[in-house]
Amino acid sequence: MDLSIIGSGYVGLVTGACFADVGHNVTCVDNDAHKIEVLRAGRVPIYEPGLEELIHRNVAAHRLRFSGSIKEGVDNSQIVFIAVPTPPQSDGSVDLSFIEKVAREIAGVLTDYRVIVDKSTVPVKTGEKVAESIKRYNRHGAKFDVVSNPEFLREGCAVHDLMHPDRIVIGAQSEHAADLMKKVYEPFMAPILVTDINSAELIKHAANSFLALKISYINAVSAICEASGADIEKVADGIGMDQRIGRNFLNAGIGYGGSCFPKDIAAFITISEKLGVPFSLLKEVQHINAAQKERFLKSIRDTLWVLREKKITVWGLTFKPDTDDIRSSVAIDLVGDMLREGAQVSVYDPKGMERAREISEIKSARFCENALDAVDGAEALVIATEWEEFANVDLAVVKEKMTTPIVFDGRNLFDPSTMAKVGFRYHSIGRTPVTPD
Ligand code: UGA
Repeated sequence: MDLSIIGSGYVGLVTGACFADVGHNVTCVDNDAHKIEVLRAGRVPIYEPGLEELIHRNVAAHRLRFSGSIKEGVDNSQIVFIAVPTPPQSDGSVDLSFIEKVAREIAGVLTDYRVIVDKSTVPVKTGEKVAESIKRYNRHGAKFDVVSNPEFLREGCAVHDLMHPDRIVIGAQSEHAADLMKKVYEPFMAPILVTDINSAELIKHAANSFLALKISYINAVSAICEASGADIEKVADGIGMDQRIGRNFLNAGIGYGGSCFPKDIAAFITISEKLGVPFSLLKEVQHINAAQKERFLKSIRDTLWVLREKKITVWGLTFKPDTDDIRSSVAIDLVGDMLREGAQVSVYDPKGMERAREISEIKSARFCENALDAVDGAEALVIATEWEEFANVDLAVVKEKMTTPIVFDGRNLFDPSTMAKVGFRYHSIGRTPVTPD
């Protein structure tokens, strides 16, 4: 099928490349001329495992092209996907101005029937607004259908998630539009759930909020483990073996971050209040998430006594491994907090360095070439993101390089008894701290 994707960010690019890979003809559109130039030159502006290869393969096969023109995208496709950003606003609501603008622009160039699909994460009832807007600016009176098709991919494994989805959600008013959408997703061989538009939009916010709730739940339990001497990893295994609960998303840590959970939960709270049914449970989820970082910081302060002038190394800046995304990263917040308290912070991340250098709050950190350089002379090592590279490091070398071998592991990357054997004082999440054997 001929498809276009308006917006070539994380979701748009990965979706476009995967659609092309299963045989569709795809035009990826973006209003950032530089980004289009970069993509046309064969470079990929974001890091996502497997994406570059996928893009090259499908460009070479002439199934994937890039354009700066919405008209070109709309003219050359039966289905137009909108995948533009929906950034958060200070009151927790979502800025829908990009969606509104794209809807108007699509309407202006619409000459024949098209299905217009919202893939961006939006509050319930946005589809109605999109349809109204297109109707108002539909100069040629062309027929169209609006569909909601939320995306459930995770950064860092986005290509895998898109190619092997748990489910496809299609929110449509018209049977014809739903049938066309089913054809798009046929090659993915996943269960398809067809709903009304409002329900599809709500599924996305409700799913992300539930996952965040699951994380906050285990983080709250981790605090009880620390206070009682229980082990959060064992507790999570024990809970997770119940198939009704499942082990996924029960990894305690320093709190969730990223461009989705914090924004989506705030948006869900705001929309529920607007609808007159406040979702106070989600406020507690936010509260637990913020408290988790504070508790971690407190354990660093309690051990090091004063942070001023302390040489602290932070491994990991991205909000999770296998991405270069540092948006709403708890790791970045931690570095900022410690710098403000006067610590001398050295940082290293396998993929996030370039973007992190642009964050003013952490400009005064020492940006290091590799993980081992970063720990040279350190009085403490903080693990903020669970990159594989850190898990595979030679711990004896790390210990030798540090002035005082103390590790604060915010991701439970290591086994406490191994750390004690190597000679570390080791603090982690929801487990009893250990001292060298
Ligand atoms: C999340 C959802 O998982 C996707 O299904 C959804 O499509 C996406 O948001 C979106 O709305 O676009 P993402 O933010 O890319 O995906 O990454 P996750 O793997 O969900 O991680 C989010 C945060 O939770 C990270 O900071 C991660 O470290 C943290 N996390 C995750 C935990 O602290 N513990 C866990 O057990 C799992």
